[in-house]
Amino acid sequence: MQKGFWGLLSSPIIGLSPMDGVTDASMRFVAKKYGQPDIIYTEFVSAEGLWRIKKRGDLEHKIWNELKYSESERPVIAQIFGSDPESFYEAAKICVELGFDGIDINMGCPSPGLEKRGGGAGLIRDKCNAREVIEATRRGAGDLPVSVKTRIGSEAPDPEWWKLLAEMKLPAVAMHGRSFKQLYSGEADWEILLQAAEVIRASGAKFLGNGDVKEVKVATKQELKIVTKSGREIDLTGKMDGVLIGREALGNPWVLRKDNYVPTVEEKLRVAVEQAKKYQELFNENYDELHYQFFPMRKHLACFARGFEGSVGLRKKLMTADNAEEVEIMVEEFLEENQTLI
Ligand SMILES: Cc1cc2nc3c(=O)[nH]c(=O)nc-3n(C[C@H](O)[C@H](O)[C@H](O)COP(=O)(O)O)c2cc1C
Repeated sequence: MQKGFWGLLSSPIIGLSPMDGVTDASMRFVAKKYGQPDIIYTEFVSAEGLWRIKKRGDLEHKIWNELKYSESERPVIAQIFGSDPESFYEAAKICVELGFDGIDINMGCPSPGLEKRGGGAGLIRDKCNAREVIEATRRGAGDLPVSVKTRIGSEAPDPEWWKLLAEMKLPAVAMHGRSFKQLYSGEADWEILLQAAEVIRASGAKFLGNGDVKEVKVATKQELKIVTKSGREIDLTGKMDGVLIGREALGNPWVLRKDNYVPTVEEKLRVAVEQAKKYQELFNENYDELHYQFFPMRKHLACFARGFEGSVGLRKKLMTADNAEEVEIMVEEFLEENQTLI
């Protein structure tokens, strides 16, 4: 088993979950700086797309933006998706060249188109191909560790799937507590995740639970408790190695911390400005006016401007911002007018 950086991490591990269109390099930069997660994944990129784009020498393609990262993010893991083992082999070689610390295979994306073609959560159905995909990725990855992020099953919780993952002797498995069929409905099932963790950890793999985490509580060195979005507190100490947090980290990198730090409104807003500036710096450089777009940044701004007096008005304004300079002016004006919040 190629453990790489996974072997150096001690429990509890808190990671930023990959989110396509969300966890871009600017979001991850800020998440690492203010949330200090132990691990970070890129948004997923197509294995087949990656090697084809590389082969035709298309250096302007947006896929290279999706694989940008800052040194401060390390250990940083490239996540790839698809269904063709040879494409995973080729894509893994490119991830090595790009200097990533690890490669993760997406075996959980519920996009119906991708699933039907046998990629993402479709690999849970086709266990034989899932095995081949893991093996091909390992061949391409050389010394880099290859992990898997998946769901509890396709139609329903699937212990056969957990057994296969255990047999593959992976350094780490992250699992979202919903089946493919559930998409994002209902609640993540942490009882099922605890059962899967037992099977998978017996193989020596680290197990990271995922789904609806709103807060982590790490009172002592080894302890790991979570509070879910529905308010349930679950003690995972000694039963899982860590958790991944996705949606709750939007506009809230502090949720990834282990010390329950709560930022002030001023701090939140200044970090929003910092992320907007980073976004502009990272993604504007290779683009002309026509191709560079600021609006993907707006959803992050909306999440930073939440839950305090006057946030509704500020949020509305921020939704019209076209660049980081405008964001800064709006935030400075708001802070000037709302001195009591500082
Ligand atoms: C907008 C969005 C994009 C996502 N993209 C990815 C992805 O690229 N790769 C992946 O493994 N999971 C992806 N996910 C799933 C998340 O990583 C995570 O498993 C899921 O949101 C449940 O965790 P949470 O409740 O903490 O958000 C995505 C989720 C969302 C909401």
